[in-house]
Amino acid sequence: MASAEKLAAPEIRIADRLNRISVSPTMAVLAAAEKLKAEGIDVADFGPGEPDFPTPDHIKRAAIKALDENRTKYTAAAGILPLRQAICDWHARELGSSYAPAECVVNVGGKHAIFQTICALINAGDQVVIGAPYWVSYPDMVKYAGGVPVFAESRAEDGFVLRAADLEKQITSKTRMVIVNSPSNPTGAVIPADEFQRILEVCKKHNVFLLSDECYSHFTYGEAKPYSIASAPDSKDTLIIAGSFSKTFAMTGWRLGYILGPKQLVDAIAKLQSQSTSNPTSIVQYAGLEAMRGSMESVGVMLAEYNRRREHIVRGLRTIPGVECNMPQGAFYVFPNVSSQLHASMPDSGSVARQLLEREHVAVTPGDAFGAPGHLRLSYATSMDRIDEGLKRLARFFGNRPS
Ligand SMILES: Cc1ncc(COP(=O)(O)O)c(C=O)c1O
Repeated sequence: MASAEKLAAPEIRIADRLNRISVSPTMAVLAAAEKLKAEGIDVADFGPGEPDFPTPDHIKRAAIKALDENRTKYTAAAGILPLRQAICDWHARELGSSYAPAECVVNVGGKHAIFQTICALINAGDQVVIGAPYWVSYPDMVKYAGGVPVFAESRAEDGFVLRAADLEKQITSKTRMVIVNSPSNPTGAVIPADEFQRILEVCKKHNVFLLSDECYSHFTYGEAKPYSIASAPDSKDTLIIAGSFSKTFAMTGWRLGYILGPKQLVDAIAKLQSQSTSNPTSIVQYAGLEAMRGSMESVGVMLAEYNRRREHIVRGLRTIPGVECNMPQGAFYVFPNVSSQLHASMPDSGSVARQLLEREHVAVTPGDAFGAPGHLRLSYATSMDRIDEGLKRLARFFGNRPS
């Protein structure tokens, strides 16, 4: 048989919208650390942005029950109605809002919730003001949608609290949305209620949406308490709440999140979802229903342990010469400033992170990824033993720098 002439393969020309974004830097740290671990190397891993606790038993049992009851079919794209109701009830009970299921859509994680919100609202050339330092994904999501990220800086000496006045300076006639995240990844800053209300007023005044990412809402320490700007009167027309089950209920791998917001937006997100992911996994939704309706005891247990680790790691970092560290008020990250440690052969936080991993097998995320050069992000969602081991290696690394 005559061999057929080989046809040329189609050229792989990746779409422009994908060339505007890069792989999540936090995922890149994860991959580099995993590679070393696979080689049998003992890595002190401060990379993961996820609880080191297991998902609470009552939530796991609800998923198993859903499986046994064959709740394994497609559901409504926006999520099952009981879950949308339960999210509204939980948010009202825990954070003082008043939403109805028609104002709630369930998504495949908080990241998906925020991504779809941005896709639903942002047109080419629209500006989105993002509080900085920022979670790595916001700017790329905005760029993917064709928008332009603009940054409103907060200051280390002000505990990285985003101020309404600094935000307002970045608003122009092209601004469509403002994104804030409190408690913050990466800084752990918590915006006080009165400042949050001023931020809302600025958004109302300039007629722009306020997207509040509440992914770490329940991880607050000391004076700081869980707070939602959705509890402020007359907020609903301006406000979009993004929530996640990942951190509060130690459910990162399950992929469940939600949006609370104006019905028209929620319907648009459900439409996009109906043509992309369809519904979040059916049995995960039943687990989420149990998380919303069941005991919150596990959250308190995690919080007490994170608090202990927070104080311990900050104390340890502050003993290392040239490392400055704020006491974070929320989330589970510390964000030390190591800029006085930079020199010609280690000129930025990316090279610090690379050399730390190579020389001491300590995994951290460089601050540049969050728009904060000279800083490192360390997650303390890891055991006390590992924190101590990591601190020992960090002290050795920074103590041995070339002069
Ligand atoms: C600030 C912030 N928002 C949203 C998310 C998304 O979380 P998930 O997609 O797991 O719900 C994360 C995850 O790390 C985060 O840190």
